[in-house]
Amino acid sequence: MTSDAHDDQRSERADSVFSLAELIPTNRLLYYPCSGLDTRFPLEQFADSIDSFWFADVRYVKDLRKPIEDFVIHCPSGYALEARTKLNVHPARRDPSIALRCQLRHRESRRQIEVLYLASDAVGVFHALEEADKKLSIFFYRRDGFCEGGSNLWWLHPTPALDGAPAFLERVLGIIEPGGRIVSDGSNALEEFVVKQPNESSGKNKLVGFDCKQWRLHPDGPIDPQCDRTMLWSVGLVP
Ligand SMILES: C[S@@+](CC[C@H](N)C(=O)[O-])C[C@H]1O[C@@H](n2cnc3c(N)ncnc32)[C@H](O)[C@@H]1O
Repeated sequence: MTSDAHDDQRSERADSVFSLAELIPTNRLLYYPCSGLDTRFPLEQFADSIDSFWFADVRYVKDLRKPIEDFVIHCPSGYALEARTKLNVHPARRDPSIALRCQLRHRESRRQIEVLYLASDAVGVFHALEEADKKLSIFFYRRDGFCEGGSNLWWLHPTPALDGAPAFLERVLGIIEPGGRIVSDGSNALEEFVVKQPNESSGKNKLVGFDCKQWRLHPDGPIDPQCDRTMLWSVGLVP
């Protein structure tokens, strides 16, 4: 860790309480709800086009109660950690809610990015973004489910599940900036987001674009060689 990072930890405002609204950046934001430990790929893939990354997961509550140095932070290639600060965040649906804010800087270009790990209910974070009218450049969501261990939050489905589990697709589309993107592997999603098994007779396993209300979604293609179901989608308006 650099001496800057140590200085930042000394100046940590452990007793201050921030509102989520105060933490919302003005620049290009990627939001990944229920992110767990899946932070490496989005950081590597989008470090040069996104300024702030928000990862929200209730599991970080346990992780962030430990000493700040124990939380493993992935630095994308070319970037170095400059500072990390633990923050108390309010209001939150689950108590306590903590965030770890990290500043990373590219060694050559000096470009700075921010990474926020939010130990919070991801729905509460989503509400805060909606209330602040913050538009997302990327909504990233994958490898979740509805059985044990899964969130049962249907982020990319328009209608609630039979068990009453909430669905958010139209609200997600509503906070994506024009020309913004969704990354999805089809989990907890509308059928159209799911990469099908190859159809042996036609050889077709490709996704096709579709409209949802006023939004037009177009599949740009797979983006993660380690996970061929992870697709990038462009979001625009139906002409
Ligand atoms: C199946 S794991 C997927 C984690 C990650 N997307 C990945 O690819 O490894 C589901 C995650 O959702 C988190 N989770 C469940 N309910 C949540 C909620 N309401 N808010 C935030 N995170 C939640 C769990 O803690 C867990 O880490």
